[in-house]
Amino acid sequence: MPLSLLITNIKQLCSIEPAGNAITRRAGAEMQQLPCIDDAWLLALDGIIHSFGPMHALPEIHADDTIDATGRFVLPAWVDSHTHLVFAAPRDGEFVDRIRGLSYEEIARRGGGILNSAARLNAMDESELYDQSLARLHAVMATGTGAIEIKSGYGLCLEGELKMLRVIRRLRENAGIPIKASFLAAHAYPPEYKQNKPGYIKLIIEEMLPRVAAAGLADFIDVFCEEGFFGVPETEQILEAAARYGLPPKIHANQLHYSGGVQVGVLHNALSVDHLECVGDAEIAALQGSSTIPTLLPGAAFFLGMHYQPARKMIDAGLPVCLATDYNPGSCPSGNVPLLLTLACTQLRMIPEEAINAVTINGAAALGLHHELGTIKPGKKASLILTKKIPSLAYLPYDYGNNNVERLIV
Ligand code: NIG
Ligand code: FE
Repeated sequence: MPLSLLITNIKQLCSIEPAGNAITRRAGAEMQQLPCIDDAWLLALDGIIHSFGPMHALPEIHADDTIDATGRFVLPAWVDSHTHLVFAAPRDGEFVDRIRGLSYEEIARRGGGILNSAARLNAMDESELYDQSLARLHAVMATGTGAIEIKSGYGLCLEGELKMLRVIRRLRENAGIPIKASFLAAHAYPPEYKQNKPGYIKLIIEEMLPRVAAAGLADFIDVFCEEGFFGVPETEQILEAAARYGLPPKIHANQLHYSGGVQVGVLHNALSVDHLECVGDAEIAALQGSSTIPTLLPGAAFFLGMHYQPARKMIDAGLPVCLATDYNPGSCPSGNVPLLLTLACTQLRMIPEEAINAVTINGAAALGLHHELGTIKPGKKASLILTKKIPSLAYLPYDYGNNNVERLIV
């Protein structure tokens, strides 16, 4: 007998998709569409959405468990497709340094930033790193995150990178939600390679990648393609090597400069190019001709006091804009998706439906999980948010700083 869950009297069941349908993303003007049923029911069997409909047509169902959702919304759980949730320590000291006038890049040049996080991570015991990361994961699940991507990139040496990726694997085995891992050794040059940058690229390609791939520890390859970090030629070398191990790219692109990251990502069939604070007509044109998802991380722009990503321009150009938190100790120490929705609405001028699509179906697409997550469709995973009693869906981004997610159902 399959385990069954019936949810009744749902004020609004949001982002439904009929069984025969197969949307893989919502792009451009479609991003405003969030098909809903008022006063609805939903049945899940063994963790899979079985059926749903309006209450006036509720068939006779005897479920193992029933939730009365009167006054509350049900929507697909958030898919946070870009995070660095596994880290050893906060960087609140650098936060104060930035308030006093140092820039993020200056802090990095002085050996802080990512290198600071790497030193702390390499000094930390693996089980302690796991415990801390699991606590963070539980906290973001409580605000509705039902699937997540997590990157390495604070090891910057073989053992440190493997340690991070093992922690991510253990989170995947125990957290009860889908988790994808990205291998990001090309996040910064470690101090011992400061004068020998090609040596570090060689280490990544010849020693780290084969070990990571052989152990099946990564789903994607990531590179911080940026001035002062990894240039376009180095990015290409790493993406080409990773392709030989079947790791598709999801890269950090155009955060601080017009770095060529978007174009190189598109050229190498990246699943997504992420950040995009610096995006103009050439980058938008490159994305238009591709299947690469543009992923915006306004939480980082907010926390670093940078200008925001041109979301409206990208949506008007017909692109499938995705949103993610970038949860990390340097540029965005928050994995709170409802707060991300508020930033998207107030600063990027996305309407609530667009923002919700960006962090559900388009987030799923940015992880290659659109067949199982991101909309409410028979056959997809029952990965659902049940809200508290709220007046409207727009109330989620409106009521910022408060958690209106009652529970995550997975
Ligand atoms: O996405 N920009 C590169 N990586 C992270 C920040 C990492 C850090 O500062 O620790 C980001 O913003
Ligand atoms: Fe990031």
